Amino acid sequence: MSKPVAHPLTPQQRAERTASPTFGTAFTEHMVSVKWTAEQGWHEAELQPYGPLLLDPATVGLHYGQVVFEGLKAFRSHTGDVAVFRPDAHARRMRASAHRLMMPELPEELFLAAVDALVAQDQDWIPDDPNTSLYLRPVTFASERTLALRPAREYRFLLLAFVTEGYFGRSQRPVRVWVTEEYTRAAAGGTGAAKCAGNYAGSLRAQEEAQDKGCDQVVWLDPTERRWVEEMGGMNLFFVYGAGAEARLVTPPLSGSLLPGVTRDALLRLAPALGIPATEAPVSLEDWRAGCASGEITEVFACGTAARISPVNEVCTSGDSWTVGTAGERPVGEVTARLSDALFGIQRGELPDRFSWMRPVAPAPRPAAPASGQAPASLTDQAARS
Ligand SMILES: Cc1ncc(COP(=O)(O)O)c(C=O)c1O
Repeated sequence: MSKPVAHPLTPQQRAERTASPTFGTAFTEHMVSVKWTAEQGWHEAELQPYGPLLLDPATVGLHYGQVVFEGLKAFRSHTGDVAVFRPDAHARRMRASAHRLMMPELPEELFLAAVDALVAQDQDWIPDDPNTSLYLRPVTFASERTLALRPAREYRFLLLAFVTEGYFGRSQRPVRVWVTEEYTRAAAGGTGAAKCAGNYAGSLRAQEEAQDKGCDQVVWLDPTERRWVEEMGGMNLFFVYGAGAEARLVTPPLSGSLLPGVTRDALLRLAPALGIPATEAPVSLEDWRAGCASGEITEVFACGTAARISPVNEVCTSGDSWTVGTAGERPVGEVTARLSDALFGIQRGELPDRFSWMRPVAPAPRPAAPASGQAPASLTDQAARS
């Protein structure tokens, strides 16, 4: 079903709302909602106006955190077409997260149909400015009214969208990181590999600590030995060893406690295609320190959907601090810039999509979206089939 807003904002109003969007604030006018019950499975898929929910105070997801989410982006190309980056990979990760939290898995086809419907409806929100994109936020939460501690029997999936520049604003700003030795993000056997709400609540104290130390982001070490570098805030890390034709990439392996990033996976495939070997291998904090001192590590960057590719130029620990490679002279290293240009070029439709990562979305009805219309039939069809 499709119930678009009766009176869409004018292009002028949209432009005002998206003029300089702080991350996570410039929401579009629509969302997708799908319900799940043990009896009916996924049902009542609907594109509807973005708006508040009426929740019972005993909605179990609020109490016990049965909540998983995703983050992916739709881009407008220089020719005006809109396409979504790797929605299938995000659909799969959301299923894996749901599996870990004993939640029903949203079928990939329904996830894709929801993405198609919302992006098709709200694509006029994406400004032509190449630095902006539409961030899509799928979330599933336990919606049953019960405080029994067991897997819930009712869930709700929502898909929201907001216009964004980047997590750190417009620029590819180098970041200064704080390596926390006190806090860990996830435990062995825990939920670190799932994108679930509690992981993010648990990270806030360490992020606050990083800011108190004058840093932008926190770097997590492994939960057992506190020795191996895992990831940074909400992003995965890559280390560049060597330079020029000798440059190679290393990223920490998926240990079970770090998130398997979709951007990380993309770079592991893209780098070799650019002639830069890329491997997954453990990197200790001592390797990082010594590698920067000897010049063996020339660049470090973090990557993720929200913040794209961000150079890491300074590292602080409780005992010392150091700069990475030629950070003082050049804010963005050569390999970081090459990878960033190649990835962004594919996302913006400027370079061939050799890995078939971009999912095109139906062109918007121009000049203005109609006040009433049909979401692609597939959204309802897919829910009925689930
Ligand atoms: C903890 C964490 N690590 C890494 C990432 C990067 O993942 P992706 O590239 O899929 O955005 C994210 C963002 O989702 C994250 O929250």
